Amino acid sequence: MEQNIEKVNSDLIDNGQKVLACLESAYNHPEKYQVLSSSHGLMNRLNNPQYLPQEGCEMGVIIEEAIATIFSGYCNVSHPQYYGYISPKPLPISLIGDLLASGLNQTPGAWRAGPAATVIEAETLQWISQFIGYENSIGKVPNGIFTSGGSMANASALKLARDKILGRDLQDRGLAVSKFQPTVYMSAEGHFSIWKALDFLGLGRNCLRRIAVDENGRINLNALQEQIKQDIQVGAKPICLVGTGGTSATGSVDNLDALGSVARDYDMWFHVDAAAGGVFANLPETREYFQGINLADSVTIDPCKWLFVPFGIGCLLTKDGSELVKSFQASSHYWEELSEPDLFQMGLPGTRQWRSLGLWMAFKHLGSNGYRQLLRNTRGTVFHLAEKVQSCEQLELLQQPTLPVCCFRIGNYPKHLSIDEINRLVQRAITETGKYYITLLDWRGSSYFRVSINNFRTNTQHIDSLIDAILHQIKLLNKK
Ligand SMILES: Cc1ncc(COP(=O)(O)O)c(C=O)c1O
Repeated sequence: MEQNIEKVNSDLIDNGQKVLACLESAYNHPEKYQVLSSSHGLMNRLNNPQYLPQEGCEMGVIIEEAIATIFSGYCNVSHPQYYGYISPKPLPISLIGDLLASGLNQTPGAWRAGPAATVIEAETLQWISQFIGYENSIGKVPNGIFTSGGSMANASALKLARDKILGRDLQDRGLAVSKFQPTVYMSAEGHFSIWKALDFLGLGRNCLRRIAVDENGRINLNALQEQIKQDIQVGAKPICLVGTGGTSATGSVDNLDALGSVARDYDMWFHVDAAAGGVFANLPETREYFQGINLADSVTIDPCKWLFVPFGIGCLLTKDGSELVKSFQASSHYWEELSEPDLFQMGLPGTRQWRSLGLWMAFKHLGSNGYRQLLRNTRGTVFHLAEKVQSCEQLELLQQPTLPVCCFRIGNYPKHLSIDEINRLVQRAITETGKYYITLLDWRGSSYFRVSINNFRTNTQHIDSLIDAILHQIKLLNKK
């Protein structure tokens, strides 16, 4: 028995080193792997049952198999030419934090299960608020909660809105007792997690009013006011206004200042979904776009986007953390109530993964100045791209970037193909080289390339190479 225990310990060091070597290679030599590997073989595997192994196997063998499998269907987010949905190359310090938190198996769900984890969780929430310049009240509980991602943070915000505005009686007796027909407002470019959450909360998707946007992807304020008035006239009860602080498609930021006053005029909860863009709210260069974020009752931030930490961490910041307690408090006869802060009383999950340690370590490692520099790098790169596009007569810019997202298309093409077709063909051809990954955006019925600068190492040379590759593909198509 003693021998086995020793073996397990030594396995951890030897095999852990194999894993670290794999990560080192993926981080420092990302060009060794395709940006997006073809995954045809994996599809077959998905459709065929895999049987649970009955006998065990050496750890080293399993690690090799796991690594080989991952690289057979690998989305290379560490590659500087990965321009897909906002998935970052994670900072090594954050990864080490995650490992430490999982390895020691601490949970910030309850004080008794992780006092240190609870404290670090609360500190990290404060640091995010400070980083984005969101002021909240000083109380006994943290002003926010970590979640598995932006969708869960948005869903939690909508629950706060529902409970506060429709009345807490509803928490016990359910929606059937409510005499109100609730309505929620968001721009047509807002994230789909909002209507998923409305369904989940029993409010129904139809209560969402998706308001038209202007040519820059920002909510149209007149249309919003019109819709609210119409709804009130027919007896509806507006409960929540969602402003978007960086749309997924174009990175557009709503006029939060104006939305804050609309929400106040109609006694609505004001939530800002700044999952992607919120980290730019306090950067001197971008602060003006986010003016009014401080009027929000709650804000969603996804650190696993432009704070460069691994997936699985979102957060909901609140002006007043006691709203979370009022909406999520629960107890049981087996739970001895002491005066300790138990974070399971502030969100849906009970036991949960300790997600904040990696981010806490990253904040300490980089400092807010270091983080700002990384954000500036991504913006500098996106402006270089916008300038390149504008200097190229075949290309057409959709709009000047606000955040590190740039949308453009091939605007003229002499041959028989339609503009949309040529854009689609070039996007596919570029991606199939395995050297670049850009996505397509359908903007008002037309296809555009969507390039998101997710990696703080992506620089102007990478952008020049991407533009050259696009122009090269156009030439090849011209020859056909
Ligand atoms: C604006 C916005 N809100 C919400 C979400 C959902 O976040 P998650 O995918 O972490 O659930 C996203 C994801 O991209 C987003 O861009």
